[in-house]
Amino acid sequence: MSSSPQTVLVVGCGHMGGAMVRQWMTHSSYTLHILNPSKPKADIASKIESHSENVEGFKDIHFDIVVLAVKPQIIIDVAKTLRPVLDENTLVISIAAGVTLSSLQAALPHQQPIIRCMPNLPSSIGAGVTAFVTNEKCLSSHTQHAQDLLSVVGSVHVLDDEQDLHSVTAVSGSGPAYIFHLAECMTDAGMSLGLSHDLAAQLARETIIGSARLLETNDGTSAEEYRKSVTSKGGTTQAALEVLMHDDAMRGLFERALKQASERSQELSRS
Ligand SMILES: NC(=O)c1ccc[n+]([C@@H]2O[C@H](COP(=O)([O-])OP(=O)(O)OC[C@H]3O[C@@H](n4cnc5c(N)ncnc54)[C@H](OP(=O)(O)O)[C@@H]3O)[C@@H](O)[C@H]2O)c1
Repeated sequence: MSSSPQTVLVVGCGHMGGAMVRQWMTHSSYTLHILNPSKPKADIASKIESHSENVEGFKDIHFDIVVLAVKPQIIIDVAKTLRPVLDENTLVISIAAGVTLSSLQAALPHQQPIIRCMPNLPSSIGAGVTAFVTNEKCLSSHTQHAQDLLSVVGSVHVLDDEQDLHSVTAVSGSGPAYIFHLAECMTDAGMSLGLSHDLAAQLARETIIGSARLLETNDGTSAEEYRKSVTSKGGTTQAALEVLMHDDAMRGLFERALKQASERSQELSRS
């Protein structure tokens, strides 16, 4: 594979593919091409090298990396059509939830390096978390190229075991939705105490952002230490936490919720 900058084909430019492309086109020097049935949004169309609605439009271009960002339900059919743009050295990166390395390998025309990853929504602002696994065809250079590409949209973690992707999906892949729901719950609870919707929503949102920023400072202070530091004995925070932590209520709820997400991920990878 050539050294940076590299030529990347993104197959599927919807919510996640589009979000990643926006980061790559703004914060990297990759040459980007898009394969998508409908034309990409104007801001993307003006910054990419080319767009085609079918693979034939790319058959004279050499791609270093092909990113598969279509829905899991169609990814195998789409992968089978990619022969004109792949050779055995093309690194294929799939972001599809639940689609295994072995099923991707069976659908692709060559025994090539494949990476299966799980990004999350904050990738759209460069604050995502992505974990990935490699197949046995990946050399350390492929892993490095994937890390370089994916680190443009946030932090990257390399996994040894593909099975861990189910747990990653439950924690970080689906995780943003839990935080958004926390914001909803805090808003509703604030309203039940008499605040207007707008004020309660703003307080909840800004509290989550501020707390996340504290966690981000990376000075070694853990979430538990921060919680303890704001919980005075006999105070208001302790009164609330006694409800949330009684019988490990919230911890138990999260354990059950994430177990459901992980089991659903396992079901999807079997279907
Ligand atoms: N959304 C997330 O938060 C998230 C998080 C982690 C992983 N993922 C994964 O990301 C993938 C995409 O999800 P999404 O939410 O971005 O879906 P999406 O918004 O529906 O995007 C899918 C894109 O694929 C395009 N497409 C359809 N058929 C195609 C074909 N034959 N060839 C090329 N492109 C085709 C669609 O184009 P048209 O609109 O023109 O039909 C659309 O732009 C999924 O596999 C999902 O598991 C998503």
